[in-house]
Amino acid sequence: MKNQKNNLWGDYSQVYDFMAYHNSEYQEIIEIIFRTIKNLGIPNKARILDIGAGTGNFSIRIAESYKSCQIVHLEPDSKMIEIAKIKAYHKGLNNINFINSSFANEIELEDFDLILCIHALYTFPFPKTSLLDINRITNKDGKFIICDIGRVLDLLDWSLFLFKDNIKRNGIFSTLSNTLKSFKLAFNNRIIRNNQKRGVYWVHSHSELKSSLINAGFNILHDSIVYRGYSDFFVCEKK
Ligand SMILES: C[S@@+](CC[C@H](N)C(=O)[O-])C[C@H]1O[C@@H](n2cnc3c(N)ncnc32)[C@H](O)[C@@H]1O
Repeated sequence: MKNQKNNLWGDYSQVYDFMAYHNSEYQEIIEIIFRTIKNLGIPNKARILDIGAGTGNFSIRIAESYKSCQIVHLEPDSKMIEIAKIKAYHKGLNNINFINSSFANEIELEDFDLILCIHALYTFPFPKTSLLDINRITNKDGKFIICDIGRVLDLLDWSLFLFKDNIKRNGIFSTLSNTLKSFKLAFNNRIIRNNQKRGVYWVHSHSELKSSLINAGFNILHDSIVYRGYSDFFVCEKK
């Protein structure tokens, strides 16, 4: 993968939760993942790692729902992680640790019962090597939940979808009053799209990610295509 030069995630952090709240497809991913975690029946004192955890939309909710578990929130962007820390502080959580680092760095991480990586792997410089590393730090019988954007974002398709979706959910006035934030969102999505096209970000098919997971040492327990066909969702177990 080529090097990434802009500070995309720091900039995106200003509108990330606006996107998360207003995008029904993102909300659907949250629902799917929480249903999955419930069905997996993770151990009582499980160690859980969220890689590329952003503003904490998954890690913080897990920490809230599974108070006996220890959550590690790994995120390299200082603005993204700051937002997550503020949310955790307001919720009074003490079972979540924040690590401000990229996964590629040689940081001490090991023994996880559950690892999540949501819409993050495709941005990593060496995603297939990262999958091997994720497998290495997963406990025996440990689970890995991954949801990853694999297809190049069609900006017009997404803008129209988000506009219509928002009018349906929030009404025309609320949608129009958020125009400025929507432009910022579209601007950041354009950078992602360009990074995908330039080969900075990994563009993959469902079957390519599936074989990469198997090659990295995972059994696939469940797989599906989500996020309007753009993302691949896998629930895996360490072989
Ligand atoms: C689209 S956001 C996803 C955030 C969160 N997982 C979610 O779904 O809401 C991608 C995140 O991956 C992080 N990221 C980028 N490269 C990374 C790396 N090498 N290691 C860990 N995280 C990384 C970015 O900083 C960004 O916060």
